[in-house]
Amino acid sequence: MKLSIVPSHVAIILDGNGRWASKRGLPRSQGHYQGGQNLFTITKEIRKLGVQKLTVFAFSTENWKRPKEEVDYLLTKPIEIFETRKEELDHQVKFIGRRDRLPQGMLDLITDIEKRSEQFDDTFVLYVAIDYGGLEELIHVAQNNEVKDIESLKQALMQPHDVDLLIRTGGEIRISNFLLAQSAYAEFYFTKTSWPAFSKKELFKALKVFEKRKRRFGGL
Ligand code: IPE
Ligand code: IPE
Ligand code: MG
Repeated sequence: MKLSIVPSHVAIILDGNGRWASKRGLPRSQGHYQGGQNLFTITKEIRKLGVQKLTVFAFSTENWKRPKEEVDYLLTKPIEIFETRKEELDHQVKFIGRRDRLPQGMLDLITDIEKRSEQFDDTFVLYVAIDYGGLEELIHVAQNNEVKDIESLKQALMQPHDVDLLIRTGGEIRISNFLLAQSAYAEFYFTKTSWPAFSKKELFKALKVFEKRKRRFGGL
């Protein structure tokens, strides 16, 4: 299984957790739990394939609209999952998004994981977007007086790197306010497979599709 072209930055909208669980007669939270576990599996696989940056959408600025019980689960359960598996994180991890509305436990986790991961080089970096929204990010950019051209604009973004391949699991064909500016020339891949069921095989299929895309960036 070889790839001749590998995207350097892959972004994934981790969607379909709730429906995955409901279909199996389980509470939605079970889908989020399995989704959290799958993040570790796919991160390892994507790294093996030679991808250098992976940005995942874990909680959007719009997800606060969900019932309190689900929001609480989404902002506390990952603490336990990351705590029990943090030894496996042998690469840099960064978090993007607003920090002013997150519960203290999540803030402590972010600080701990980021700090721990500083010992690793940046050959592979996992970015986790929590309380992130592409429009919210533009407000952040608009408040930066140093933005003079496209290069400085990119540097002012929470995620300064262009996306090569954007994957969305769960069947919806939309971007839901994720990495708007960074996806300006991204290739898109949508799959009906829900995030907890998104396997190594599915990942490889997405990268195979990317390999065949002709990227022109407005040129010929
Ligand atoms: C994605 O799964 C996780 C988050 C948005 C936090 P969903 O919770 O949106 O699952 P579906 O789309 O309702 O199945
Ligand atoms: C997008 O999924 C956000 C995350 C995966 C974190 P949603 O389930 O919130 O998106 P919509 O509501 O279907 O657009
Ligand atoms: Mg969803």
